[in-house]
Amino acid sequence: MVSARRPLVAGNWKMNGLQRSAAELTKIIAGAGELAARIDIVVCPPATLVADFAARARGSAIVIGAQDCHAEVSGAFTGDISAEMLKDAGAQAVIVGHSERRSTHQETDAEVRAKALAAWRAGLIAIVCIGETRAERTAGHTNAVVQTQMGESLPDGATAENLVVAYEPVWAIGTGLTPTSADVAEVHGVIRQRLGARYGAAGHGVRILYGGSVKPANAGELMHINNVDGALVGGASLKAEEFLGIVNVHR
Ligand code: 13P
Repeated sequence: MVSARRPLVAGNWKMNGLQRSAAELTKIIAGAGELAARIDIVVCPPATLVADFAARARGSAIVIGAQDCHAEVSGAFTGDISAEMLKDAGAQAVIVGHSERRSTHQETDAEVRAKALAAWRAGLIAIVCIGETRAERTAGHTNAVVQTQMGESLPDGATAENLVVAYEPVWAIGTGLTPTSADVAEVHGVIRQRLGARYGAAGHGVRILYGGSVKPANAGELMHINNVDGALVGGASLKAEEFLGIVNVHR
């Protein structure tokens, strides 16, 4: 079946990048070329670089996103950044509920849902991350975990335009390990089914990204799995050449 969903490749730079890293963005903009007319390319640098990157990417097909936001618009939340501030800085998307925030900042599904709503309130695309731990997979709980996270992290009112779901098995992040294609197909199928059941036709248009040790060498196989609409890339997104190697499998 040919999917009508437009592929999306997003780079999550995590806590990496200095002002001089703009050189990588420049290479990505140049290297994406005419491919950017067919696929969506998102770069999510650390918050310190969002405004500069957004200014540099203006007029190109590259979208700049952020990695987290606070649920409130403004207020006494030292160190936090609101979705409205990210929008003001030029971001068009924001990752929420990344497993690193769920684990090291104890973010709950309810908080992730509030952040996704904040993203929408500000006019940003919410890229909501879900995924099981190694122990949960070993125990055979993957589908149940993913379904619970979807039920509790995703707000009502999702559309193909405002929501992207990223399936990132925690044990595959930064480890060089990936699930088998059959396992990815199974989980993405479960996610698609739940999106359809909850949001109807809109749910069938929501993109589902795979994330976790995506590299140029494995992207071709991963990106051609049913219901995989693109990738959320960590380590391999830091160097333009590697990131473009993943983008280019959509050629
Ligand atoms: P790696 O691609 O480094 O495994 O990271 C994946 C990730 O966490 C993207 O959000």
